[in-house]
Amino acid sequence: MEFPTDENLIVGLDRTDDAGVYKVTDDLAIIQTVDFFTPIVDDPYWFGQIAAANALSDVYAMGGIPKTAMNLVAFPIKEMDIAILRQIIQGGMDKMREADVVLVGGHSVDDKELKYGLSVTGFIHPDRVLTKKNLKIGDRLILTKPLGTGIINTAIKGALASPEIIGIVTRLMASLNRKAAEVMASYPVHACTDITGFGLLGHLTEMVQGSGCGVRLNSKHVPVLPETISYAGMGLVPAGAYRNREFFEPAIRFDPSVDRVLQDILFDPQTSGGLLICISQSEADQLLEDLQEKGITDAAMIGEVISEPVEKIIVK
Ligand code: CO
Ligand code: CO
Ligand code: CO
Repeated sequence: MEFPTDENLIVGLDRTDDAGVYKVTDDLAIIQTVDFFTPIVDDPYWFGQIAAANALSDVYAMGGIPKTAMNLVAFPIKEMDIAILRQIIQGGMDKMREADVVLVGGHSVDDKELKYGLSVTGFIHPDRVLTKKNLKIGDRLILTKPLGTGIINTAIKGALASPEIIGIVTRLMASLNRKAAEVMASYPVHACTDITGFGLLGHLTEMVQGSGCGVRLNSKHVPVLPETISYAGMGLVPAGAYRNREFFEPAIRFDPSVDRVLQDILFDPQTSGGLLICISQSEADQLLEDLQEKGITDAAMIGEVISEPVEKIIVK
């Protein structure tokens, strides 16, 4: 399909990336993204925060600063109490305030199924756009949030999760990638994306496609939420993780030491996941230390870019 375009489009639909980027002047480009989904937690106020944090994340993943947002609402107005919608929108607005983002409008429709999210516009210098591509051999990979939100949400749906773990995963999904993006901005980062529906291995596969290099992932260093291993071991793995495995497995080479449960976690679809940052080896330790000092204590160095096998991910 041929998409409408012009010479100022920097990142468009012709490639997979976190957001579109369009050059306005030589010093300014706008980042545009949209995301909305059905509730993933019971509490409407927290759902609003999570949906907003998730939508804002794609701007951070491009290296940008979110500036304005619009609400997208689908709500069963005849069947549901409007107070629920107010709490959702309040959650979203509180996240926007935390991100210093201005709410400029929105649109709502009557729908059988409740959905909420944002369209977000951000700013970036046209020369500083961080796409998923541009990996360099020898680079290190840093992940800023632990994995496991899909598996824990499956446990929550099965009424098997403790209140403590529900609190941990809810706060994690609602936390902005802002701080990580701010720290990253003062480093010469090569590439960045955020971990969402395709899981860590799916998003890593997108990064290596067409890159001319591969990745070695050290699964023992991947940060994982508490309880995730035991829930996954009980089979509480969302359908999306199996779909991700089916789709991305041709690009993955698992070492026999990586057990099935850990593999499932690496394919687990994330909601409002962390940033996956690719940076040269010489800068990687300093960036990781800096992230941890600024409170992103889950950040970890999880792998490296290798010359061969091309476009494959070795998981050891
Ligand atoms: Co993204
Ligand atoms: Co998105
Ligand atoms: Co990016």
